[in-house]
Amino acid sequence: MSLVELDSGKIRAEFPALSREIRPGVPLVYLDTTATSQKPLRVLEAMERYYRWHNANVHRGIHTLAEEATAEFEGARTKIAEFIGAQDSREVIFTRNATEAINLVAKTWGSSNLKEGDRIVVSEMEHHSNLVPWQMLSAEQGLEINVLPVTEQGELDLREWERLLNKEPKIVCFTHMSNVLGTLNPVAEMCAQARDAGAVSVVDGAQSAPHLPVDVRAIGADFFAFSGHKMCGPTGGGVLWGRAKLLNEMPPFLGGGDMIKRVQMTGFEPNEIPYKFEAGTPSICEAIGLGAAVEYLESVGMESIWKHEQELISYALEGLGEINGITVYGPEAHKRGGVASFTLEGVHPHDIAQVLDRDGVAVRAGHHCAMPLHTKLNVVATARASFYLYNTQDEVDLLVEGIGRVRDMFR
Ligand SMILES: Cc1ncc(COP(=O)(O)O)c(C=O)c1O
Repeated sequence: MSLVELDSGKIRAEFPALSREIRPGVPLVYLDTTATSQKPLRVLEAMERYYRWHNANVHRGIHTLAEEATAEFEGARTKIAEFIGAQDSREVIFTRNATEAINLVAKTWGSSNLKEGDRIVVSEMEHHSNLVPWQMLSAEQGLEINVLPVTEQGELDLREWERLLNKEPKIVCFTHMSNVLGTLNPVAEMCAQARDAGAVSVVDGAQSAPHLPVDVRAIGADFFAFSGHKMCGPTGGGVLWGRAKLLNEMPPFLGGGDMIKRVQMTGFEPNEIPYKFEAGTPSICEAIGLGAAVEYLESVGMESIWKHEQELISYALEGLGEINGITVYGPEAHKRGGVASFTLEGVHPHDIAQVLDRDGVAVRAGHHCAMPLHTKLNVVATARASFYLYNTQDEVDLLVEGIGRVRDMFR
């Protein structure tokens, strides 16, 4: 496939928020995509079009608007299935976000397949979303959580991984890409090894689906979760992809309308997948917005987006590395995505973020919902800059210059 150089000007023009000034004469430099991305016009327009012209509830009506809304909603499911290489769009379940998708697996697959004493492997670099649901389940059912550690280089300890698999865990949970270190994990190899060991695999794709080509069948996971709002879509729209066989065997998640085939006062018969897991009126507009977002990302090209971000992170790591007193966490550029978390000697990350904001540079400071990983790194917080298709090398320069000013100010 030929890679197209990204046309920054054209891409940035699609995102109204990027033309903002934070103060007169100080343009926004948005480096917080890992938390949530900006939204392109195409997504905003698709959502407005739905509410303006096609607004109706889905699946239940036979009037024109209901049919149009259903076609848009189910059309979005098909686009998303194609975007992630799913064999069957029934394997795409709409959730509110990645967090809800992972909770769904824990509450349904977990509660019906695990018993006291069973082992769960969870990596030390997980976002709380792929850790706390397993801790909750383990407290309810008396399970044992085995931690897959992170090495000094910020990668998963694959020797320990093999040792943990020998203990025959029932389920293994790890992220495709770390939201703190940027580390890209070898998920396809890990899922294959997990399968050979008889374990079900849950991959948190919240930071990979937005940034690189994802093919769930090539990855070979059993479940793959992601959030629309980190990939140009609206908040309130996320996805759980799961293998049809497993989804068919799992009990429903929430109870209510749409997830049933038949109800009597004495009980109910659940609906087919994916509806079995989509109780109540879904986030219709958000699903349509996410459909428009994946269409937009595909029109730019996921390979090109990934290449662009690789160039930006290499350039950023070089620039950041020259700042006195900085520690940047995570592996070398070619092993990571466009995320750089760092600390500056003697300066609290919140102060870094606050001073950078005066220059219009938006970065995040805190534990980024990965407290155990920060404990491992021996820090309570880091500042984090993250890049997407709309960021430029000039913005990386502004970040590096800004941090230099922070350092001088607190010297
Ligand atoms: C790796 C990872 N997993 C899960 C999540 C949770 O995403 P959400 O809050 O949209 O559910 C995030 C959010 O930052 C993340 O970075």
